[in-house]
Amino acid sequence: MAPKPPARTYRGTARNLAHLAARLRAGELVAVPTETVYGLAAHALDARACARIFRAKGRPSSDPLIVHLHSVRQLGLVCRPNAAALRLARAFWPGPLTLVLPKTAAVPAIVTAGRESVAVRVPRHPLFRRLLRLAGVPLAAPSANPFGYVSPTTAEHVRQGLGKKIPHILDGGPATIGLESTIVDLRDPSRPAVLRPGAITAEQIARVLGRRVTAPRRKTSAQGAQVAPGLLARHYSPRTPLQLHDKITAARRDRAPANEAFLLQRRPRGAKGQAHVFWLDATGALPGVARRLFAMLRRLDAEGFARIHAELAPNRGLGRAINDRLRRAAAR
Ligand code: TXA
Ligand code: MG
Repeated sequence: MAPKPPARTYRGTARNLAHLAARLRAGELVAVPTETVYGLAAHALDARACARIFRAKGRPSSDPLIVHLHSVRQLGLVCRPNAAALRLARAFWPGPLTLVLPKTAAVPAIVTAGRESVAVRVPRHPLFRRLLRLAGVPLAAPSANPFGYVSPTTAEHVRQGLGKKIPHILDGGPATIGLESTIVDLRDPSRPAVLRPGAITAEQIARVLGRRVTAPRRKTSAQGAQVAPGLLARHYSPRTPLQLHDKITAARRDRAPANEAFLLQRRPRGAKGQAHVFWLDATGALPGVARRLFAMLRRLDAEGFARIHAELAPNRGLGRAINDRLRRAAAR
Protein backbone atom coordinates (compact mmCIF):
# COMPACT_ATOMS: atom_id res chain seq x y z
CA MET A 1 0.00 0.00 0.00
CA ALA A 2 1.37 3.45 -0.90
CA PRO A 3 2.08 5.68 2.13
CA LYS A 4 -0.57 8.31 2.71
CA PRO A 5 0.32 11.92 1.90
CA PRO A 6 0.83 14.01 5.05
CA ALA A 7 -2.01 16.11 6.47
CA ARG A 8 -2.81 19.39 4.79
CA THR A 9 -3.41 22.38 7.09
CA TYR A 10 -6.21 24.77 6.10
CA ARG A 11 -6.97 28.33 7.11
CA GLY A 12 -10.62 29.06 7.90
CA THR A 13 -11.65 30.64 4.59
CA ALA A 14 -15.22 30.18 3.35
CA ARG A 15 -13.94 27.98 0.53
CA ASN A 16 -11.85 25.77 2.82
CA LEU A 17 -14.72 25.37 5.29
CA ALA A 18 -17.11 24.30 2.51
CA HIS A 19 -14.51 21.80 1.26
CA LEU A 20 -13.88 20.35 4.73
CA ALA A 21 -17.62 20.09 5.47
CA ALA A 22 -18.03 18.05 2.27
CA ARG A 23 -15.09 15.80 3.24
CA LEU A 24 -16.69 15.21 6.66
CA ARG A 25 -20.03 14.30 5.08
CA ALA A 26 -18.12 11.85 2.84
CA GLY A 27 -16.73 10.07 5.93
CA GLU A 28 -13.22 11.57 6.13
CA LEU A 29 -11.46 12.80 9.28
CA VAL A 30 -10.79 16.50 9.91
CA ALA A 31 -8.87 17.84 12.91
CA VAL A 32 -10.76 20.88 14.20
CA PRO A 33 -10.08 23.77 16.56
CA THR A 34 -12.26 24.07 19.65
CA GLU A 35 -12.08 26.47 22.58
CA THR A 36 -10.87 23.61 24.82
CA VAL A 37 -8.39 21.50 22.80
CA TYR A 38 -8.19 20.45 19.13
CA GLY A 39 -10.53 17.58 18.22
CA LEU A 40 -10.37 14.83 15.58
CA ALA A 41 -13.80 14.97 13.94
CA ALA A 42 -15.85 12.51 11.92
CA HIS A 43 -19.53 12.21 10.87
CA ALA A 44 -21.03 10.95 14.14
CA LEU A 45 -23.83 8.96 12.52
CA ASP A 46 -21.44 7.10 10.17
CA ALA A 47 -19.89 4.13 12.00
CA ARG A 48 -17.17 3.61 9.38
CA ALA A 49 -16.07 7.25 9.62
CA CYS A 50 -15.92 6.98 13.43
CA ALA A 51 -13.87 3.76 13.22
CA ARG A 52 -11.18 5.84 11.47
CA ILE A 53 -10.89 8.04 14.58
CA PHE A 54 -10.01 5.04 16.77
CA ARG A 55 -7.44 3.80 14.20
CA ALA A 56 -5.75 7.18 13.75
CA LYS A 57 -5.42 7.79 17.51
CA GLY A 58 -4.62 4.21 18.54
CA ARG A 59 -7.58 4.62 20.90
CA PRO A 60 -9.12 1.54 22.56
CA SER A 61 -12.65 0.86 21.36
CA SER A 62 -13.82 0.90 25.01
CA ASP A 63 -13.30 4.70 25.20
CA PRO A 64 -16.42 6.52 23.88
CA LEU A 65 -16.41 9.75 21.84
CA ILE A 66 -18.03 13.14 22.44
CA VAL A 67 -20.66 14.17 19.87
CA HIS A 68 -20.54 17.86 18.89
CA LEU A 69 -23.68 19.67 17.73
CA HIS A 70 -24.17 23.05 16.10
CA SER A 71 -27.23 23.83 18.13
CA VAL A 72 -29.23 22.65 21.10
CA ARG A 73 -32.05 22.06 18.57
CA GLN A 74 -30.13 19.00 17.28
CA LEU A 75 -30.12 17.35 20.72
CA GLY A 76 -33.12 15.14 20.01
CA LEU A 77 -31.32 13.58 17.07
CA VAL A 78 -28.67 11.96 19.27
CA CYS A 79 -30.02 11.87 22.83
CA ARG A 80 -33.06 12.16 25.08
CA PRO A 81 -32.50 15.39 27.04
CA ASN A 82 -34.14 16.03 30.43
CA ALA A 83 -35.04 19.34 32.09
CA ALA A 84 -31.71 19.53 33.94
CA ALA A 85 -29.82 19.11 30.67
CA LEU A 86 -31.80 21.91 29.05
CA ARG A 87 -31.04 24.22 31.96
CA LEU A 88 -27.32 23.58 31.75
CA ALA A 89 -27.45 23.93 27.96
CA ARG A 90 -29.12 27.32 28.30
CA ALA A 91 -26.56 28.46 30.87
CA PHE A 92 -23.33 27.19 29.30
CA TRP A 93 -23.72 26.39 25.58
CA PRO A 94 -22.06 27.11 23.30
CA GLY A 95 -19.12 26.32 25.60
CA PRO A 96 -16.81 23.86 27.37
CA LEU A 97 -19.49 21.62 28.90
CA THR A 98 -20.28 18.02 27.88
CA LEU A 99 -23.47 16.26 29.03
CA VAL A 100 -23.91 12.49 29.27
CA LEU A 101 -27.52 11.54 28.42
CA PRO A 102 -29.49 8.51 27.21
CA LYS A 103 -28.71 7.97 23.52
CA THR A 104 -31.06 7.55 20.55
CA ALA A 105 -30.88 4.69 18.04
CA ALA A 106 -29.32 7.05 15.47
CA VAL A 107 -25.98 7.01 17.29
CA PRO A 108 -23.82 4.04 16.23
CA ALA A 109 -22.52 1.75 19.01
CA ILE A 110 -18.89 2.53 18.14
CA VAL A 111 -19.39 6.18 19.21
CA THR A 112 -20.60 5.25 22.69
CA ALA A 113 -18.44 2.12 23.11
CA GLY A 114 -21.63 0.10 23.30
CA ARG A 115 -23.20 2.19 26.07
CA GLU A 116 -26.81 3.32 26.24
CA SER A 117 -25.63 6.88 26.94
CA VAL A 118 -23.95 9.47 24.72
CA ALA A 119 -21.74 12.48 25.57
CA VAL A 120 -22.82 15.70 23.78
CA ARG A 121 -21.59 19.25 23.58
CA VAL A 122 -22.22 22.46 21.60
CA PRO A 123 -18.77 24.08 21.21
CA ARG A 124 -18.04 27.79 21.12
CA HIS A 125 -15.08 28.12 18.71
CA PRO A 126 -16.36 30.23 15.76
CA LEU A 127 -14.64 28.20 13.00
CA PHE A 128 -15.79 24.87 14.41
CA ARG A 129 -19.31 26.29 14.69
CA ARG A 130 -19.28 27.31 11.02
CA LEU A 131 -17.98 23.88 10.05
CA LEU A 132 -20.71 22.15 12.10
CA ARG A 133 -23.36 24.28 10.42
CA LEU A 134 -22.01 23.60 6.92
CA ALA A 135 -21.56 19.87 7.57
CA GLY A 136 -25.17 19.73 8.79
CA VAL A 137 -24.50 16.54 10.78
CA PRO A 138 -23.31 15.90 14.36
CA LEU A 139 -19.54 15.42 14.57
CA ALA A 140 -17.90 12.92 16.91
CA ALA A 141 -14.54 14.21 18.11
CA PRO A 142 -12.10 13.15 20.81
CA SER A 143 -8.97 15.21 21.44
CA ALA A 144 -6.69 15.08 18.38
CA ASN A 145 -3.67 13.40 19.97
CA PRO A 146 -2.24 9.88 19.86
CA PHE A 147 -3.98 7.99 22.71
CA GLY A 148 -2.48 8.79 26.13
CA TYR A 149 -0.31 11.75 25.07
CA VAL A 150 -0.81 15.41 26.00
CA SER A 151 -3.88 16.97 24.27
CA PRO A 152 -3.16 19.43 21.42
CA THR A 153 -3.90 23.13 21.81
CA THR A 154 -2.56 24.24 18.39
CA ALA A 155 -2.80 22.97 14.81
CA GLU A 156 0.96 22.38 14.91
CA HIS A 157 0.57 20.02 17.90
CA VAL A 158 -1.97 18.04 15.87
CA ARG A 159 0.40 17.87 12.90
CA GLN A 160 3.25 16.65 15.11
CA GLY A 161 1.16 13.84 16.60
CA LEU A 162 -1.17 12.76 13.79
CA GLY A 163 0.16 14.49 10.64
CA LYS A 164 1.01 11.15 9.01
CA LYS A 165 -2.33 9.54 9.86
CA ILE A 166 -5.01 12.08 8.93
CA PRO A 167 -5.74 14.05 5.75
CA HIS A 168 -7.00 17.45 6.98
CA ILE A 169 -6.26 19.93 9.80
CA LEU A 170 -8.27 23.14 10.21
CA ASP A 171 -6.13 25.82 11.90
CA GLY A 172 -8.19 28.03 14.20
CA GLY A 173 -5.32 29.42 16.28
CA PRO A 174 -4.34 28.41 19.82
CA ALA A 175 -7.16 27.09 22.04
CA THR A 176 -8.37 29.82 24.39
CA ILE A 177 -9.26 27.57 27.34
CA GLY A 178 -6.61 24.87 26.90
CA LEU A 179 -8.20 22.07 29.00
CA GLU A 180 -10.85 19.57 27.89
CA SER A 181 -14.52 20.27 28.65
CA THR A 182 -16.21 19.57 31.97
CA ILE A 183 -18.18 16.29 31.64
CA VAL A 184 -21.42 15.97 33.63
CA ASP A 185 -23.36 12.73 33.90
CA LEU A 186 -27.07 13.60 33.71
CA ARG A 187 -28.50 10.16 32.98
CA ASP A 188 -30.26 10.48 36.32
CA PRO A 189 -31.10 14.21 36.60
CA SER A 190 -31.69 13.89 40.34
CA ARG A 191 -28.05 12.82 40.79
CA PRO A 192 -25.83 14.96 38.57
CA ALA A 193 -22.15 14.01 38.72
CA VAL A 194 -19.02 15.64 37.32
CA LEU A 195 -16.99 12.91 35.59
CA ARG A 196 -14.16 15.18 34.42
CA PRO A 197 -13.45 18.65 35.86
CA GLY A 198 -12.97 21.54 33.40
CA ALA A 199 -13.36 25.28 33.03
CA ILE A 200 -17.00 25.13 34.13
CA THR A 201 -16.82 24.18 37.79
CA ALA A 202 -19.02 21.86 39.87
CA GLU A 203 -20.06 24.93 41.91
CA GLN A 204 -21.31 26.72 38.77
CA ILE A 205 -23.26 23.64 37.73
CA ALA A 206 -24.75 23.19 41.20
CA ARG A 207 -25.88 26.83 41.19
CA VAL A 208 -27.74 26.46 37.89
CA LEU A 209 -29.33 23.13 38.85
CA GLY A 210 -30.11 24.21 42.39
CA ARG A 211 -28.87 20.90 43.79
CA ARG A 212 -25.69 19.20 44.92
CA VAL A 213 -23.38 17.84 42.28
CA THR A 214 -21.08 14.89 42.93
CA ALA A 215 -17.44 15.73 42.27
CA PRO A 216 -15.19 13.25 40.45
CA ARG A 217 -13.39 10.73 42.59
CA ARG A 218 -9.72 11.64 42.84
CA LYS A 219 -8.37 8.25 41.77
CA THR A 220 -10.00 6.88 38.66
CA SER A 221 -8.34 3.56 37.98
CA ALA A 222 -8.74 1.02 35.21
CA GLN A 223 -11.67 -0.37 37.24
CA GLY A 224 -13.18 3.12 37.48
CA ALA A 225 -13.63 2.74 33.73
CA GLN A 226 -17.08 1.30 34.56
CA VAL A 227 -18.41 4.75 35.49
CA ALA A 228 -16.15 7.07 33.54
CA PRO A 229 -14.66 5.31 30.56
CA GLY A 230 -11.40 6.71 29.31
CA LEU A 231 -10.64 8.61 32.49
CA LEU A 232 -7.56 6.59 33.27
CA ALA A 233 -5.30 7.53 36.13
CA ARG A 234 -2.49 7.88 33.58
CA HIS A 235 -3.32 10.18 30.69
CA TYR A 236 -2.17 13.43 29.08
CA SER A 237 1.37 12.25 29.74
CA PRO A 238 4.70 13.62 28.61
CA ARG A 239 7.45 11.03 28.14
CA THR A 240 9.72 12.79 30.65
CA PRO A 241 9.07 11.77 34.29
CA LEU A 242 6.91 14.40 35.96
CA GLN A 243 6.96 15.05 39.71
CA LEU A 244 4.41 17.27 41.45
CA HIS A 245 4.92 19.66 44.36
CA ASP A 246 2.60 21.88 46.36
CA LYS A 247 5.18 24.66 46.28
CA ILE A 248 8.64 24.90 44.69
CA THR A 249 10.99 27.19 46.60
CA ALA A 250 14.07 28.99 45.24
CA ALA A 251 16.23 26.84 47.52
CA ARG A 252 14.72 23.67 46.02
CA ARG A 253 15.48 24.94 42.49
CA ASP A 254 19.03 25.92 43.33
CA ARG A 255 19.94 22.50 44.70
CA ALA A 256 18.70 20.60 41.64
CA PRO A 257 20.91 19.35 38.81
CA ALA A 258 20.74 21.50 35.64
CA ASN A 259 19.06 18.74 33.64
CA GLU A 260 15.91 18.94 35.78
CA ALA A 261 13.22 21.47 34.79
CA PHE A 262 10.99 23.42 37.17
CA LEU A 263 7.53 24.44 36.04
CA LEU A 264 6.04 27.07 38.36
CA GLN A 265 2.54 28.49 38.44
CA ARG A 266 3.82 32.10 38.35
CA ARG A 267 6.98 34.05 37.54
CA PRO A 268 9.33 33.91 40.51
CA ARG A 269 11.46 36.78 41.69
CA GLY A 270 15.05 36.59 40.46
CA ALA A 271 14.80 33.66 38.07
CA LYS A 272 16.73 35.58 35.38
CA GLY A 273 19.27 33.46 33.53
CA GLN A 274 18.01 30.18 35.03
CA ALA A 275 17.50 28.13 31.88
CA HIS A 276 15.73 25.32 33.74
CA VAL A 277 13.02 27.48 35.38
CA PHE A 278 9.68 28.00 33.58
CA TRP A 279 6.29 29.38 34.57
CA LEU A 280 2.73 29.11 33.26
CA ASP A 281 1.44 32.64 33.87
CA ALA A 282 3.28 35.82 34.86
CA THR A 283 0.91 36.45 37.78
CA GLY A 284 -0.32 32.88 38.29
CA ALA A 285 -3.83 33.71 36.98
CA LEU A 286 -5.60 30.36 36.52
CA PRO A 287 -7.03 30.96 33.01
CA GLY A 288 -3.50 31.70 31.76
CA VAL A 289 -2.13 28.63 33.55
CA ALA A 290 -4.83 26.42 31.99
CA ARG A 291 -4.31 27.90 28.52
CA ARG A 292 -0.54 27.26 28.49
CA LEU A 293 -0.28 24.02 30.48
CA PHE A 294 -0.36 21.46 27.65
CA ALA A 295 1.87 23.48 25.29
CA MET A 296 4.41 23.86 28.09
CA LEU A 297 4.39 20.13 28.92
CA ARG A 298 5.06 19.41 25.24
CA ARG A 299 7.86 21.96 25.09
CA LEU A 300 9.60 20.65 28.21
CA ASP A 301 9.18 17.10 26.90
CA ALA A 302 10.96 18.10 23.68
CA GLU A 303 13.87 19.80 25.48
CA GLY A 304 15.23 16.53 26.82
CA PHE A 305 15.22 17.23 30.57
CA ALA A 306 15.76 14.17 32.79
CA ARG A 307 12.82 15.18 35.00
CA ILE A 308 10.15 17.86 35.20
CA HIS A 309 9.11 19.23 38.60
CA ALA A 310 5.74 20.99 38.41
CA GLU A 311 3.91 23.06 40.97
CA LEU A 312 0.21 22.34 41.63
CA ALA A 313 -2.41 25.09 41.33
CA PRO A 314 -4.55 26.19 44.31
CA ASN A 315 -7.21 23.49 44.64
CA ARG A 316 -10.27 25.61 43.87
CA GLY A 317 -12.30 26.56 40.79
CA LEU A 318 -10.32 26.11 37.60
CA GLY A 319 -7.37 25.00 39.75
CA ARG A 320 -9.10 21.64 40.29
CA ALA A 321 -9.15 20.93 36.56
CA ILE A 322 -5.51 22.01 36.20
CA ASN A 323 -4.48 19.72 39.07
CA ASP A 324 -6.53 16.83 37.66
CA ARG A 325 -4.54 17.03 34.39
CA LEU A 326 -1.22 17.42 36.23
CA ARG A 327 -1.94 14.37 38.40
CA ARG A 328 -2.86 12.21 35.42
CA ALA A 329 0.21 13.42 33.52
CA ALA A 330 2.40 12.48 36.49
CA ALA A 331 0.87 9.03 37.14
CA ARG A 332 3.07 6.05 36.30
O1 TXA B 1 -13.15 19.50 25.34
C1 TXA B 1 -13.40 18.37 24.97
O2 TXA B 1 -14.25 17.66 25.52
C2 TXA B 1 -12.61 17.82 23.76
C3 TXA B 1 -13.01 18.60 22.52
C4 TXA B 1 -12.44 18.02 21.27
O3 TXA B 1 -14.41 18.71 22.46
N1 TXA B 1 -12.85 16.43 23.60
C5 TXA B 1 -12.33 15.49 24.43
O4 TXA B 1 -12.60 14.18 24.04
O5 TXA B 1 -11.68 15.74 25.40
P1 TXA B 1 -11.86 12.90 24.63
O6 TXA B 1 -12.21 11.79 23.76
O7 TXA B 1 -10.41 13.14 24.74
O8 TXA B 1 -12.57 12.62 25.96
C6 TXA B 1 -13.90 12.14 25.92
C7 TXA B 1 -14.24 11.47 27.18
C8 TXA B 1 -14.03 9.97 27.21
O9 TXA B 1 -12.72 9.58 27.47
C9 TXA B 1 -15.00 9.56 28.30
O10 TXA B 1 -14.35 9.68 29.53
C10 TXA B 1 -16.10 10.58 28.21
O11 TXA B 1 -15.66 11.59 27.36
N2 TXA B 1 -17.32 10.00 27.64
C11 TXA B 1 -17.72 9.93 26.35
N3 TXA B 1 -18.89 9.30 26.23
C12 TXA B 1 -19.25 8.95 27.47
C13 TXA B 1 -20.38 8.27 28.02
N4 TXA B 1 -21.36 7.81 27.26
N5 TXA B 1 -20.42 8.10 29.36
C14 TXA B 1 -19.44 8.57 30.16
N6 TXA B 1 -18.35 9.22 29.71
C15 TXA B 1 -18.26 9.40 28.37
MG1 MG C 1 -8.45 12.95 25.15
